[in-house]
Amino acid sequence: MNIVIQELTIEDYEAVRSLWHKSEGIEVADTDSREGLVRFLERNPGLSFVARDGKEIVGVVLCGQDGRRGYIDQLAVSRSYRRQGIGRSLVSRCVYNLMRIGIRKWHLFVFEDNQEAIAFWDNLGWARRVELITMSRDVDNSGII
Ligand SMILES: CC(C)(COP(=O)(O)OP(=O)(O)OC[C@H]1O[C@@H](n2cnc3c(N)ncnc32)[C@H](O)[C@@H]1OP(=O)(O)O)[C@@H](O)C(=O)NCCC(=O)NCCS
Repeated sequence: MNIVIQELTIEDYEAVRSLWHKSEGIEVADTDSREGLVRFLERNPGLSFVARDGKEIVGVVLCGQDGRRGYIDQLAVSRSYRRQGIGRSLVSRCVYNLMRIGIRKWHLFVFEDNQEAIAFWDNLGWARRVELITMSRDVDNSGII
């Protein structure tokens, strides 16, 4: 097995979306449209990656930053490729590139019932922020904010 980590480009969209759909613990939302990914990659160049085995995409991670903090999202590794260090390699590439641009604090969301992912993040040394809750809002159908 010869896994290569490469920058994610929009040409990878269909394969990446298919991997997300197959991955438990990943929600594919409206924001994960092709247009959404184009915008995300334009705003956050050089921070998101795929893992390839030959031509096949076997891992993906999105990473963005807002000038102060980095955000890791939609990390997934194909089931048959797990526990071989691919998830760790993808995250390492993200945090290395965030550090290069001076972003030294990083956040992510994980569903609380996703025990495998929590074990993964624990192993990588990420801390649970039990004192925080997540609050979200969408524009409703009337367009009123
Ligand atoms: C979470 C995920 C990305 C991990 O990818 P991976 O390539 O298997 O992870 P790695 O091989 O780099 O694991 C690194 C370490 O994390 C820990 N770890 C990873 N998966 C684990 C699991 N299922 N249970 C317990 N510990 C785990 C281990 O300590 C592992 O090191 P080891 O194999 O030497 O013991 C993968 O399981 C996945 O795609 N899950 C479905 C999607 C998902 O939940 N994504 C995360 C959303 S926040």
